[in-house]
Amino acid sequence: MIFAANFKTNHTRKSTELYIEELNEKLGAKKPEDRVYLFPPATALDAYEGDFKVGTQNAYPAVNGAYTGEIGLEQLDEFDIRTILIGHSERREQLGESQENVAEKFAFFQEHDFEIIYCIGEPLHVREKGFEAVMQYLLAQFDGIDLNYDSLIVAYEPIWAIGTGRSATIEEISTTHRALKKAIADKPLLYGGSAKPANIKEIISIAGVDGVLVGSASLDAESFSEMILA
Ligand code: PGA
Repeated sequence: MIFAANFKTNHTRKSTELYIEELNEKLGAKKPEDRVYLFPPATALDAYEGDFKVGTQNAYPAVNGAYTGEIGLEQLDEFDIRTILIGHSERREQLGESQENVAEKFAFFQEHDFEIIYCIGEPLHVREKGFEAVMQYLLAQFDGIDLNYDSLIVAYEPIWAIGTGRSATIEEISTTHRALKKAIADKPLLYGGSAKPANIKEIISIAGVDGVLVGSASLDAESFSEMILA
């Protein structure tokens, strides 16, 4: 199983260090085949030691240059960051990233051999239209994306389940993952959206779920490690 923590705009450099210290104490008990990823904010990126990979929540598809407010490959190389989250709904919706922007970013980081966790997810009004509409919406988020890329992990995160405390139902996750697996073949597929210690066992036991991308419940090292060890 894959357990990925997305801190979003939470934690500082100092609190990330403390978090990692606490997490490292717990990770001794994790199954060796389970993989852990941490996505701290850009100011807390560093070459940390531990049984996990650190990735960036975002970066600009350039080595360096005039992109005010962004970081590029050069800044990631400094800390040997080789993993990136691309296509998160908050970046699509609040930062205005189009499918074209997302695909351009994907191609750049693919070219530089990054491991990519690529996020897709539908808004509530699409989910309410029914399963066919959901799949049409999700598959359009693969436009311009090389699904054959070796270092690809896909994360399905229904937008209405993110940060709301209301996870998708087992049935919703199960049918959506089954359909998505047809499109992405053998690539790992994570579920995201209010995954937490109380529902983790149920979620990871669903066929077609290879792990979770966790926001709110990952902010506390105790809660995140509880999920990994569940
Ligand atoms: P959540 O966020 O766990 O707080 O719902 C998940 C995500 O946005 O990756």
